[in-house]
Amino acid sequence: MPLTGPKEMFARAYKEGYAVGAFNVNNMEIIQGIMMAGAEEKAPLILQVSAGARKYAGQNYIVKLIEAALMETDLPVVLHLDHGPDFDLCKACIDGGFTSVMIDGSHLPFEENIKATKQVVDYAHDRGIWVEAELGRLAGVEEHVSAEKSIYTDPDQAVEFVQRTGCDSLAIAIGTSHGAYKFTGEAKLDFPRLEKIGQMLPGYPLVLHGASSVPQEFVDMANKYGGKIGGAKGVPEDLLRKAAGMAVCKITIDTAIRRAMTACIRQHFVEHPEDFDPRAYLKPAREAVKKMVAHKIKNVLGCSGKA
Ligand code: G3H
Ligand code: 13P
Ligand code: ZN
Repeated sequence: MPLTGPKEMFARAYKEGYAVGAFNVNNMEIIQGIMMAGAEEKAPLILQVSAGARKYAGQNYIVKLIEAALMETDLPVVLHLDHGPDFDLCKACIDGGFTSVMIDGSHLPFEENIKATKQVVDYAHDRGIWVEAELGRLAGVEEHVSAEKSIYTDPDQAVEFVQRTGCDSLAIAIGTSHGAYKFTGEAKLDFPRLEKIGQMLPGYPLVLHGASSVPQEFVDMANKYGGKIGGAKGVPEDLLRKAAGMAVCKITIDTAIRRAMTACIRQHFVEHPEDFDPRAYLKPAREAVKKMVAHKIKNVLGCSGKA
């Protein structure tokens, strides 16, 4: 089955009150783990590639790996650029076969964000490609931008932004953040804000980034086998499930994949110090990705059986 765009995926997710998972991919084992989970749960999938992942793996490698995965499945799969920093990178991905791109101008002043987004929308729409943009700022660290404090999305500005740019989906800031350390105090999301944006943009798909909730088993496992990742707190899964039932049609997950893989590899090295075959530790790591992603699909996103 060829790659698909997010249009029908999001329309159905919006109507039926679930979200599609967008999982960050960096190498073959991560792609395989996610695909195995999708197959088990019969779920639609978004595989997303950040600028850093593209640099690490190489665009051709990552695209061809995903094409190989598609030869073995009939699941609907979107190939998406995550947090595209500028027009040139978005263009390179559109030209290289991605079916969806994100232009992230959230760190720019409002008018500049509109300008940067509109430029990508014009190029992408001429080629039938979906564009996600971002308004508001998430706290946390990504490769090209890091912010200490979040700036929640203003609902009036969201409407103006969507109208003036023509972007197809919008990532909003309502309290999630990137990386492992998301909340110092009580974890909460601004649901009244999400509801208001949803009401002001009826039928329009919203996106929630920074949505990992790191399963405790992997935090404990990593620390037991030599990791030093203390106090890591994710977004509680019941809050994500609630957002998925509202206008949020796409939920992005990266940190939880990293944590699951790393915990398994740490365990393997401690338990088998004599081992040096990468397959011996990447196989359980891939299995852990599968298990974690299947759990998210089934219990958090609500998209099992929606492929
Ligand atoms: O939101 C950012 C993603 O987690 C990607 O992270 O830029 O380190 O690949 P990365
Ligand atoms: P996490 O760091 O919470 O996994 O967020 C991932 C993300 O937003 C990718 O763009
Ligand atoms: Zn993100």
